[in-house]
Amino acid sequence: MLRKALLLASPLLSLGACPFGGEQGVLPDGHPAVAQETYAAALGDLDLDLVRSDLKALFLNSQDHWPADLGNYAPFFVRLTWHCTGTYRSSDGRGGCEGGRQRFEPERSWADNTNLDKARALLWPVKARYGDAISWGDLMVLAGTTAIESMGGPVLGFCAGRLDDKDGSESIELGPSEEQEAVAPCVLNGTCVSPLGSTTVGLIYVNPEGPMGNPIPAESALQVRDSFGRMGMNDSETVALIGGGHAFGKVHGACPAGAGPSPKEDPLNPYPGLCGTGKGKDTFTSGFEGPWTTTPNQWSNLYFNDLLNNDWEVHVGPGGHHQWRIPNATGPMAGIMRLTTDISLLHDPAGIYQKIVKEFAADPAKFDNAFANAWYKLASRDMGPALRCLGQVAAPPFPWHPSLPARSSEFPPAWPQVKASLKEMARGYSTPIFPADVFSGQSYYGGLFLQLAWRCASTFRQTDYRGGCNGARIRFSPEKDWPANAEFVGVLKVLDDVKARFGDALSWSDLIILAGTVAVEEAGGLPMSFCGGRTDATDGSGSELLTPRLSPGPGTDLAFLVDGMKVMGVTRREFVALVGGGHTLGQMHASRSGFISGPWTSSPSRFNNEYFTNLLTEVYQEVSVQSGEKKYKALGKELFMFKTDLFLKADPEFRIHVEEFALDNQAFLESYRAAWTKLVRSDRFDDPTGKLCE
Ligand code: HEM
Repeated sequence: MLRKALLLASPLLSLGACPFGGEQGVLPDGHPAVAQETYAAALGDLDLDLVRSDLKALFLNSQDHWPADLGNYAPFFVRLTWHCTGTYRSSDGRGGCEGGRQRFEPERSWADNTNLDKARALLWPVKARYGDAISWGDLMVLAGTTAIESMGGPVLGFCAGRLDDKDGSESIELGPSEEQEAVAPCVLNGTCVSPLGSTTVGLIYVNPEGPMGNPIPAESALQVRDSFGRMGMNDSETVALIGGGHAFGKVHGACPAGAGPSPKEDPLNPYPGLCGTGKGKDTFTSGFEGPWTTTPNQWSNLYFNDLLNNDWEVHVGPGGHHQWRIPNATGPMAGIMRLTTDISLLHDPAGIYQKIVKEFAADPAKFDNAFANAWYKLASRDMGPALRCLGQVAAPPFPWHPSLPARSSEFPPAWPQVKASLKEMARGYSTPIFPADVFSGQSYYGGLFLQLAWRCASTFRQTDYRGGCNGARIRFSPEKDWPANAEFVGVLKVLDDVKARFGDALSWSDLIILAGTVAVEEAGGLPMSFCGGRTDATDGSGSELLTPRLSPGPGTDLAFLVDGMKVMGVTRREFVALVGGGHTLGQMHASRSGFISGPWTSSPSRFNNEYFTNLLTEVYQEVSVQSGEKKYKALGKELFMFKTDLFLKADPEFRIHVEEFALDNQAFLESYRAAWTKLVRSDRFDDPTGKLCE
C-alpha cells in the first residue's frame, strides 16, 4: 500500500517568484526552515525501500544482549513508535515523535518507556548506515510502521520530515518538571486532566492496571476515552489502535523484582532487569506478563475475537500486578492475557466500545481500514499540514492534516495598488460601518490593522504547525468569537472594500498580514518585507484547538506567558519586540477588554520605542474593570498597560530586552521587523525558506 516517494510536491511551488516585496529568501544557517530544506534534500535522495528492508532484516536478527521474543523484534518496535508518537496532545500541540526526544530526559526515563533504550540501541546500525539522511524521529516512526507491515498488518504510508532536537527541552512541559507543574499541574498523579495528555505523568495514556492500579474495567474505559480524546482520537480510532497494537507482542513482568534504575538514575546501566538474567524470558518491563494472542508476530483480529468469546478473570500475575486470564484455559490459550484497559473495551458505560469490538471481530476488512488510518494519524499528526510530509506519503485529504486550497489563478493582485489602498485607509479615513480610533483629532485604523494581523498570525503553534494567518481562519468561528477578537469582525468589514476591489487575486490572509505590515511602515517602522501567496480556508475547522493562550485574562500569569511564547516558537527578545510593537500603535478597546479604552503610548499612531520607555519610567496602578480582569494605568496620565505588559518589566529575562529597546530605538525597529517577518512566515509551508520571494 505504500506509495512511491513524493517530495514536497506542492502545487503552490510551481507558481513562480513572489511578485511583490523584498522578503528575503536568505535565512541564517541553523534556521529551522533551512535545516528542514537541507534534510528534505537528503531524504529525497534516500531510498526508503532500502531502509525498510534493512529494518526487516534487523527485526529477525536476534541479539544475545537483548534476545527477541520468538525471534522477532517487530512488536518491540511497534511499541517504540507508539510511545514516541503517542505523547502528542492536542491541547498545545506538544509531544509526538518530531525531535526524536524519546532519546532524552524526561521522556527516556518515563516508566512507560522502560527498556526502549534497548530498542533504540538496536536501531543504531541502521541509523549509522544512513546518517543524516534519516533523522531519529523519522527512523523511530518508520521502524514501527515497517514492523507492522512485516507482520502482515495494514499500512497507509509514511509521513517523514521530522528534524531532530539536540536535547529534550521541548518535552519539559510534558513533565515531570516545574514547568509542567506551573502550566499543567496534576493534583494526583493517575488522575491528571487536560492540558496533560495522559492520566499519569510518565505514562503514554493510562494506567494499564486500571485507575490508580484498581482493576475496575468500567472506570478504566472512562480513562481510556478521556486520555485518547486528549490527542484527538475518536472511539473507533481508539479501539482500532489498542486492538491493533495488541495484536502483536507481549507484556513483560517475569517476577515482582522490577526493571531497576531508569537512565536518569543510572545512565551507564539503565533497566538491568532484576529478575534472573534480566532479559529474554526474565525480562521485566511493565510488570505484566504474557501475550495477547497465540500468534503475536502475525497481524489478525484475534484480539477482538478472543476478547469477546471468552470469560476473563482478574488475578495477580508473576510481576505482581493485576491482569486478566481465561479461567480454566488449557493449551496455548492458557497463556494469553489482557490488561484492565483491554477488558475495559467490554465494559464501556456508554456501550460504544463494545459495539466497535464486535464490528472489528466480525469484519476484518473494516478493522484493517480503521487501524491503517488511525496508525497513520497517530504517527503523522504532530507534523501539522499534509504539505510538510515527505517520504512515502499517504494520499490526503485527512481531516486532521490541515490543508488549504491552491492559489487562485487570478493571483497575484497589483501589489503596489493594494499597498497604496491600505496606506490611505490607515490614517485620516473612517467609515460608519466601523468607525476608526481617533488620536489628536485624526482618524486612525493602523493600530487595529496591526492588532488584527497579530491576532491572526499569533495563533501559530510551532509544536504541531497549526494556526497562523495562512487560511485567514480568523474570519470564521471559533476564532472570530473569541473575546479577544471582538472587534475584528468590524475591522474586516473596513477591509471589505479593498478585498472587493482586488477580488480573487487577493486572499484575505495576504490582505490581513499586509494591512498590519503597512500599518507599521506607515507609522514610521522600517521598510517591511512581505511575500504574498497565502490562501483562504473555507471554514474555521482546526482552530478549536488554538484557543488563545496569551490573552490578558484573569488566569494569565508569567508561566502562561512564557508557555504561550514557546508554543508560538519565538524567543524572548522576539516576543518582547512583538508585544511592544503591537502595543505601540492604537489602543486597548472597551469592547474586548472591559470598559477601559486607552492607549499604551502618548503617540499611538507613531511606531517607535515609547512603549518601552513608558513601561520602565511610568508608575502603573491597578484599576479593576468590569470583567474582573485587571488593567494598569499610569499615575496622572491616560496611559495603560495590561498585566502581560507589566510581566515584561517584572521578569528579569524579559526586562533586559525591554531595557535594550527603551535605550535603542533602532535596535527595537530592527528586532521588530525581523520578529514580525519570522512570525508571519512561520506558516508558509509552501515556501519554507522564502525562495519564491527572492
Ligand atoms: C505492550 C499498555 C495501547 C502497542 C504494552 C505493554 C503495556 C501496554 C503495559 C507491555 C510493555 C512490556 O511489558 O513490554 C498499553 C495501554 C494502552 C496501549 C494501557 C492504551 C490503553 C497501545 C497502542 C499500541 C500498542 C495504541 C499501538 C498501536 C503495543 C505493543 C506492545 C505493547 C506492540 C508489545 C511490545 C513487545 O512485544 O515488546 N502495552 N498499550 N499499545 N503495546 Fe500497548
